[in-house]
Amino acid sequence: MRLNFLSALLLSMLTSSLCDEHATRNEKRSVVVETIHRFVPNLNISLENLAIRQTGEIIVTFDSEPTIYQIEPEVNGTGTFIYTFEGYTDLHGIVEVQPDQFYVTAGNLSLVTHIDVLGSCSVFHVNMTRFPDYVEVNKVADFPNSRILNGMALLSKEEGLVYIADSRVGIVNILNVNTGENFVAINNSLTNQPPGASEISNCVHGVHVVQLTPNSQKYLYFSNYAQGIIGRVPIHDSGLASGAAEVVAGNLTTPEDFILDTEGNIFLALFQANQFIRIDAHTHEITVFAGSPDSSEYKWAAAVEFGRRESDKDSLYATIDGGYLESDNVGGALFRIKGGDIAVN
Ligand SMILES: *[C@@H]1O[C@H](CO)[C@@H](O)[C@H](O)[C@H]1NC(C)=O
Ligand SMILES: *[C@@H]1O[C@H](CO)[C@@H](O)[C@H](O)[C@H]1NC(C)=O
Ligand SMILES: *[C@@H]1O[C@H](CO)[C@@H](O)[C@H](O)[C@H]1NC(C)=O
Ligand SMILES: *[C@@H]1O[C@H](CO)[C@@H](O)[C@H](O)[C@H]1NC(C)=O
Ligand SMILES: *[C@@H]1O[C@H](CO)[C@@H](O)[C@H](O)[C@H]1NC(C)=O
Ligand SMILES: *[C@@H]1O[C@H](CO)[C@@H](O)[C@H](O)[C@H]1NC(C)=O
Repeated sequence: MRLNFLSALLLSMLTSSLCDEHATRNEKRSVVVETIHRFVPNLNISLENLAIRQTGEIIVTFDSEPTIYQIEPEVNGTGTFIYTFEGYTDLHGIVEVQPDQFYVTAGNLSLVTHIDVLGSCSVFHVNMTRFPDYVEVNKVADFPNSRILNGMALLSKEEGLVYIADSRVGIVNILNVNTGENFVAINNSLTNQPPGASEISNCVHGVHVVQLTPNSQKYLYFSNYAQGIIGRVPIHDSGLASGAAEVVAGNLTTPEDFILDTEGNIFLALFQANQFIRIDAHTHEITVFAGSPDSSEYKWAAAVEFGRRESDKDSLYATIDGGYLESDNVGGALFRIKGGDIAVN
């Protein structure tokens, strides 16, 4: 781990040494990875997604069981059980709409066989206002035509609209969290399965709405796991596509969830490459922050989010699955990555 970290740092210093300004910045801010929480010794817990509360705590979703936990944003932070969604086997996406009002996708994907159950998916509202005294959970909608509801993204806080990727069907839904109304909004060859995909392939995975300046074009960015790309499609305020989808970055190994900073740089988890990386908005140059294909330290990198407090808004919180049922399983864990080029929020 130390070696990987040093070589990643060395590489990023070497590649930016042509530009003095960058070299200075990298020297000043080396990458530091802190362990916030590990779910060992229970190696049967696999983490999937995460969301950050306005007060800084991290909510993580499990995909090895239908459970969410809250974790304190500090090294060796305490984990507190929030809720188990009975009648489901896994959770994936989570997104906040109004302050402390979270929405979570639940379904019956098996982490052992990777087979899903058509029509098992639902979205729930988790009201965290009074947590830990109590948590109020209500179903928002069932999705009878869905297979794996995965990444979620906020489209309109005012109207209560969220995007939800279906990583097996290959489309992105819009859900009105206030009414439960939902429909297929985005469906194109870059969100779909690649030709010849197997029955257990996953395609469109993470989703994010991006508008870099107030009057610029709004886009839905998405990762496609099986196609190995980050793509984007221009959107209307309604959330429907206003033009053709295009590839932003390709040749990526199993891209999962990601986030963009205010300059458009992409921070991304590469699941089977066990890596957290940054893709530069302008040069598309890739910097590895943590992990390597042959290391178990960050086994199966799942998702990233920025902190929301003044002290950690330039830090990335990052989850790993841990390597569920693999011989080198290290267990689900949450890390905080800071320094390097994570500094523009
Ligand atoms: C983890 O789950 C698998 C599959 O259900 C089971 O075979 C194994 O015994 C479990 N291991 C532990 C440590 O609970
Ligand atoms: C966190 O836990 C690890 C493992 O138990 C321990 O070695 C380390 O000192 C702890 N760090 C802090 C800051 O508590
Ligand atoms: C999903 O799995 C749960 C737990 O095993 C089960 O109770 C439920 O009936 C399943 N749902 C569907 C639609 O098969
Ligand atoms: C969340 O819970 C609080 C406290 O019980 C309540 O006042 C509020 O109306 C709830 N919000 C929503 C959107 O249900
Ligand atoms: C997505 O688009 C394809 C091609 O037009 C179509 O065959 C398919 O039914 C659409 N899928 C959904 C879920 O709307
Ligand atoms: C992927 O790499 C191949 C070979 O280097 C190159 O031809 C192709 O353009 C790349 N694709 C993308 C989307 O970057």
